[in-house]
Amino acid sequence: MNYILLTGGAGYIGSHTALALLRAGYQVISFDNYSNSSATALKRVEKLAGGNIICLSGDIRDEAALSAVFRQYPVAAVIHFAGLKAVGESTEQPLHYYDNNVGGTITLCRVMREFNVKKLVFSSSATVYGDAKTVPIDETAPRSATNPYGQSKLMIEHILADLVNAEPDWGITLLRYFNPVGADSSGQIGEDPNGIPNNLMPFISQVAVGKRDKLNIFGNDYPTADGTGVRDYIHVVDLAAGHLKALQYLENHQGIEAINLGTGTGYSVLEMVNAFVRVNQVEVPYQIAPRRPGDIASCFARPDKALKLLGWQAEKTLADMVRDSWHWQRQNPNGYAENK
Ligand code: NAD
Ligand code: WQD
Repeated sequence: MNYILLTGGAGYIGSHTALALLRAGYQVISFDNYSNSSATALKRVEKLAGGNIICLSGDIRDEAALSAVFRQYPVAAVIHFAGLKAVGESTEQPLHYYDNNVGGTITLCRVMREFNVKKLVFSSSATVYGDAKTVPIDETAPRSATNPYGQSKLMIEHILADLVNAEPDWGITLLRYFNPVGADSSGQIGEDPNGIPNNLMPFISQVAVGKRDKLNIFGNDYPTADGTGVRDYIHVVDLAAGHLKALQYLENHQGIEAINLGTGTGYSVLEMVNAFVRVNQVEVPYQIAPRRPGDIASCFARPDKALKLLGWQAEKTLADMVRDSWHWQRQNPNGYAENK
């Protein structure tokens, strides 16, 4: 298993995984339409790793372009990051989200089958658990979705399960990420959201760097210890390592497995803000705002299955997460763009 195709390889999680793969000696092919990323990320990864990535620009819905990749390179496995991920936008543009995420995945699988490449790691999400009744959440918890983005992940999980059912020689891992944060410790690559960040950590970082006045904390009346929402934040470098373990697992396993990638520990919004301030010695002004529609009180993983099946567990601390997020933001106040 040497050539690994990363769809969406230039994105936040894809670029960190590309770095880990290069360092582990894999040949990395990135196939990305750059709808939410910059080729600069991959240039920086190459520099950090001292190796080359085959960087291809293309859309996973373009069957001919994807086929050309498989014709040219001996792809052993695919890590499928490509997808749109903004929850609010998905509600406004459901057809676009279903077309891109679900349609794109079907096209990818069709091409993979044509070239007899049947090892796939899929970027799923804790969003498939909807508003879980109990925490920590294990992989057998009921699944539901409250928005088209989440629905697209759920649909893809079902489609891939049906595929394995029909063709048992596929090996598929559904990695259900919890809340990815942080950046490579070099500060060279990181999360670069377009416009106003939806997610907590990039918002905190942009307040700290002076791009935004203050953080709105969405609700302090949840049934949690301090009233603010609790999530399982996971360092993106730990997440990247999980993908390498999933690839190794697929070398000698067929069938389909859903696996949580989380730390197993939940932190509240206030705990995140306080850690960021304490570790980085910066100010993060905030105010309490109304709850954000669709938010849940508490969500964190039971990560035992990842340890048992993949031999993976998160190693980074909360201090690592907030320090590395800040390091990236401070060095790249405008992300990858020159003047954003
Ligand atoms: P990202 O937006 O940074 O990366 C996704 C990449 O896919 C981008 O580079 C984008 O340009 C590319 N892309 C999108 N549609 C494409 C298409 N049709 N063809 C080719 N490339 C396309 O997002 P990320 O945070 O790195 O997330 C990666 C994956 O993990 C996504 O599928 C996302 O849904 C999933 N996920 C992310 C999170 C999170 O909070 N970041 C949590 C759970 C799951
Ligand atoms: C975390 C906490 C907010 C911003 C989302 C997607 C999910 C997954 C990860 C892809 C919550 C609070 C946030 C702010 C705040 N993505 N918050 N002020 O909502 O857990 O998950 O990203 O799969 O599908 O739904 O992450 O970072 O948006 O919020 O108070 O400005 O921070 O209310 O408690 P979330 P988040």
